[in-house]
Amino acid sequence: MEKQLNKSILITGCSTGIGAALVMKFLKQGFLVFGSIRDKKLEAPLKKKYGNNFVPLVFDVTNYSQITKAYKKVKLTLKGANLGILINNAGIAKLGPVEHISSEEFDLHLKTMVSGTFNCVQIFLPLLGTKNKRYPGKIINISSGGGSIGQPFMASYCSSKHALEGFSESLRRELLIHRIKVIIIAPRAFKTAIWDKSNADGRAADFKKTVYNNAFAKFTNYIKELSEQGQDVQFLAQKIYKISMEKNPKVKYSMGPSGLQFYLISKLPKRFIDNLLGKYFLLMK
Ligand SMILES: NC(=O)c1ccc[n+]([C@@H]2O[C@H](COP(=O)([O-])OP(=O)(O)OC[C@H]3O[C@@H](n4cnc5c(N)ncnc54)[C@H](OP(=O)(O)O)[C@@H]3O)[C@@H](O)[C@H]2O)c1
Repeated sequence: MEKQLNKSILITGCSTGIGAALVMKFLKQGFLVFGSIRDKKLEAPLKKKYGNNFVPLVFDVTNYSQITKAYKKVKLTLKGANLGILINNAGIAKLGPVEHISSEEFDLHLKTMVSGTFNCVQIFLPLLGTKNKRYPGKIINISSGGGSIGQPFMASYCSSKHALEGFSESLRRELLIHRIKVIIIAPRAFKTAIWDKSNADGRAADFKKTVYNNAFAKFTNYIKELSEQGQDVQFLAQKIYKISMEKNPKVKYSMGPSGLQFYLISKLPKRFIDNLLGKYFLLMK
């Protein structure tokens, strides 16, 4: 019976994209799904759409007290059972040259993807098996190709995802003591609203009068093409579900199109790649 109640998952950032696809996948597999949203107005329609096994939680991952409130709701709903899985998925991506983006915008990426993950992990750990050690849970952190490669105009995003991977590695080793597994998933290009939300076209106008004008336009076109060729999020959700069920999962999974391109960028000498990217994105002659 307790094992059955342990078939529960909390996913952050469920209003759209990968989070929404994960909600549907885990509900289909008979999980009790806690899904975080920021907009309270979405609570009722999502509850109606997903049914009784979906419990909406309204919080911003940067807001510790909102998450603490959500923790109490999750604890009450689980009636003494553990939470099976926590997926830290909430994320943002805004593009721009370091020379011109605001420090607030840079900080927001770190607050969302790094501190936000820290907040959720720290607050939900007691439900993942630090108290009741019988059924240790799993933590899945959604990183990105940008978690191991630094792309131009993505310093805020790539720094955050690199930091998230470092955080995950420390956490994975620390949580050996509780037998709680920590897994990094690094998707590449999947079709979601993330790039539309980044308002790349509007930003191009912001940087028009700077030295980056042509390079930024070229880069945003590349991102648009990448996201148009992006894979379906249902496919990713299916893969993540399978990984979450593994008894001995790997520490990190990379997935999505352009695998060879990402592989070569990560393996070839950095100066060589600098030259290739520099020329391709019009950052050098
Ligand atoms: N799509 C890709 O190709 C791709 C590739 C690599 C990695 N990823 C990663 O996958 C994750 C999900 O992205 P997605 O592509 O599915 O984008 P998305 O559709 O924009 O979803 C992002 C989700 O995160 C939520 N969110 C943003 N900031 C938040 C905050 N401070 N507190 C709580 N929730 C917040 C958003 O909520 P609102 O609706 O309230 O904004 C939304 O539900 C991100 O971590 C992203 O970096 C995506």
